[in-house]
Amino acid sequence: MRISSHRTQLRRVTATDSREQGRSHPAGYGDVVYDRVRDSYDRVAVRYADEIGAELAGKPVDRALLKCLVELVSTVEETTGSGGVADLGCGPGHVAAFLATLGVPTTGIDISSAMVEVGRKRYPDVHFRVGSLLALLATDAEHAGAIALYSIIHLQPEDRPSAYLEMSRVIRPGGWLLLAFHISLAGHEPGEIMHAEERWGEQVDLDFYYLDPAEVIEGLTSAGFVLMARTDREHWPGAEHESRRCYLLCRRSPEAASEHLGAASAHA
Ligand SMILES: C[S@@+](CC[C@H](N)C(=O)[O-])C[C@H]1O[C@@H](n2cnc3c(N)ncnc32)[C@H](O)[C@@H]1O
Repeated sequence: MRISSHRTQLRRVTATDSREQGRSHPAGYGDVVYDRVRDSYDRVAVRYADEIGAELAGKPVDRALLKCLVELVSTVEETTGSGGVADLGCGPGHVAAFLATLGVPTTGIDISSAMVEVGRKRYPDVHFRVGSLLALLATDAEHAGAIALYSIIHLQPEDRPSAYLEMSRVIRPGGWLLLAFHISLAGHEPGEIMHAEERWGEQVDLDFYYLDPAEVIEGLTSAGFVLMARTDREHWPGAEHESRRCYLLCRRSPEAASEHLGAASAHA
């Protein structure tokens, strides 16, 4: 969850603590680990939209990167036809709505049905689907581009490769991905896991993974993406949570199509 000026009480946990949460069945929607993520975001969905929904107004670098993505996606669509942009882990859909104002059809996908419900009411120009990053509700090569802003931060390490493969499956060859995550919290080391049990007065149960960009880039490359630009930045004072952040702009390799689609296409 983006934490902005309203502080969430975070405590550091170890990787072992996190894995002890257990898992009773295969990763994806309905997994016990992600049930906790979904339930947490369900509880704060309306408040999240109220507090965070206008945040892009205070985040000029994000707006610039999103405009860049739209320009690149438009070029892809000139040759491959309309496919729009998927917002993966969209929350209430405010970023998807910003993209829609730039003229690109946008589909928001989120594991939290409450987030999607809020989004459908507030942003009628955005299409929404409830679903998991690990089994995206999208057909192979459906989209000309995708964004995943601060949604992989809740994935368990062993699940990130599957999520990257799903992104690769649903973005058409030559299409674009903009992915963002936290590198480190002020005063902490990269790679730590923080746990939150309360947000805006609501009980939550969320692990936040602060990620090493090199590992994320390696994972995306293995899934068939080519890194085209990397932007690291500090938090924007007054606008967001005090973390160092990374934005990766990647192109879906045209060559990666056949070798990666087989395993994942069953989800479509
Ligand atoms: C920190 S919020 C970010 C929301 C939005 N992208 C933004 O930038 O404000 C993380 C979002 O990812 C969603 N999410 C977390 N894990 C997910 C998963 N495994 N599958 C789909 N959505 C997930 C959460 O429900 C939540 O809405």
